[in-house]
Amino acid sequence: MPVVRVPDESGNTLTLLEVDGTYRAGNSSVPDHENEIRSIPTWQARDDDVLICAYPKSGTHWLWEVTSMLTRNKAERIPGVKESAMLELIQQSRFDNLPSPRVVNTHVQYGQVPKDMLDRRCKILYMIRNPKDVSVSFYNHHVNLLDYEFTGSWEHYLPRFLRGDVDCGSWFDFTLSWENFILQIPDYPILVIYYEDMKSNPVLEIERIATFLEVPYDDVFIQSIAQLCDFNTMKSDKEPLEDADDWRGGKPDMYRRGEVGDWKNWFIVGQNDLFDTVYFERMQNSKTNLRFSL
Ligand code: A3P
Repeated sequence: MPVVRVPDESGNTLTLLEVDGTYRAGNSSVPDHENEIRSIPTWQARDDDVLICAYPKSGTHWLWEVTSMLTRNKAERIPGVKESAMLELIQQSRFDNLPSPRVVNTHVQYGQVPKDMLDRRCKILYMIRNPKDVSVSFYNHHVNLLDYEFTGSWEHYLPRFLRGDVDCGSWFDFTLSWENFILQIPDYPILVIYYEDMKSNPVLEIERIATFLEVPYDDVFIQSIAQLCDFNTMKSDKEPLEDADDWRGGKPDMYRRGEVGDWKNWFIVGQNDLFDTVYFERMQNSKTNLRFSL
């Protein structure tokens, strides 16, 4: 198993799985995890599959819950956790056996999604969140999930995040890769959803997703989903489903703050300047229009 310990400047390491040059979160319950991840592009799709793509910590749990309620035509809590339908954390046999309509999720770039999904033009929901909040959320994720064996400081973490020495690699590479996909195949059925828009107007965004998925809806249905998927409700309903043994101190914290702009509580001026320098350099040709506060 190519487990690697990726250091920052101060020597603190993050324990990851390296698969063909990309870091992934390891999952010891998937036998031969590395080859299982490698095989994802060959998995067989179904026409009504829906794929959720997002860089880690961009609101994937939230979107998976909303989308699953929409495709089931029921405003009812979804049993289980979204990791049970995450391409790089499950085996192909599980993927094959998920009941239709499948709503699966992933943090891979488009070159690694099942090719058959793209050939069949399965609908894709692509979620994006401002990377300052992503970096803070990912830092807490790495500190709190024991598999990463990580005890580094925020100060040394931010340069690591900017370099992409984390699972799924660089936020910039990921974001530019999906933007490139959208530009290259302009008629592909993909809907871009901003975390910040979901926060500021969840009802409008859920309606937009329902329309894209061609799901029948009325105001009551959409309002009910918005309420069930509100941060505090999801935290109290879904966090207990997490495996407490995976978390530092036995306390799951997948639903941490759920806010736009929490980065302001973490970034000092020099870190913000460093971030902005890298951001403007990497994103200068990007059309991605992110909001860092509401
Ligand atoms: P924070 O760490 O900033 O709180 P992912 O699901 O992709 O791992 O993203 C996790 C982030 O989304 C966490 O951010 C989490 O709290 C936030 N999140 C999860 N459910 C949410 C919800 N219903 N509303 C708003 N944010 C949510």
